[in-house]
Amino acid sequence: MRPAIRAAQAGDLDAIAALNTAAFASDDEGRIVRQLASDGDSLVSLVAEDSDGRLIGHIEFFRILVNGKDVAAGLGPMCALPGQQKRGIGYGLIKTGMPEVEALGRQLVFVLGHKDYYPRFGFNPAVAARYEAPWSGEAFMAIELSETAPRSGTLTYPRAFTETE
Ligand SMILES: CC(C)(COP(=O)(O)OP(=O)(O)OC[C@H]1O[C@@H](n2cnc3c(N)ncnc32)[C@H](O)[C@@H]1OP(=O)(O)O)[C@@H](O)C(=O)NCCC(=O)NCCS
Repeated sequence: MRPAIRAAQAGDLDAIAALNTAAFASDDEGRIVRQLASDGDSLVSLVAEDSDGRLIGHIEFFRILVNGKDVAAGLGPMCALPGQQKRGIGYGLIKTGMPEVEALGRQLVFVLGHKDYYPRFGFNPAVAARYEAPWSGEAFMAIELSETAPRSGTLTYPRAFTETE
């Protein structure tokens, strides 16, 4: 059965953090999700739940500035519960989330992630390579959602990614 996907609520944060900790074997992603929310840098946060209401997937989209303009988004963290991976949860989260990010007027989406996974959604390292960013290489990918998207520039990531507590 396809999981239900809905917007995350403030009351989901503990469960989202636990899910990320299980998927990444690290507390970093849960901390990032909490800080994105508390700093107002989260744009779209979605969860997938099973028929018992248990969270089995999560995706976050956050603001990225291009040359100081608030026009882009980043994808991540994203995860599916171990034991439930490779069943389309990640696919459903991205396919649901991308139109929401586009509807917010975001012109570009960046991701730092598995190089064999994100290209199927249109993410391309050659697009990301046009921008000055804290990351580079084939795992750093981007997709243009608008013909008027800036073709180059310096990216500013939220504090959640650049400052560790
Ligand atoms: C990566 C992840 C979010 C994908 O979600 P998912 O629900 O398992 O993925 P889907 O079912 O939509 O897609 C399955 C595909 O993802 C691929 N995939 C899963 N993990 C991958 C990885 N580490 N590297 C490359 N591809 C991966 C599978 O091989 C499969 O590809 P196929 O369709 O060609 O066989 C999930 O596996 C996960 O939570 N992994 C641990 C945390 C993580 O790495 N998050 C992403 C950081 S970029």
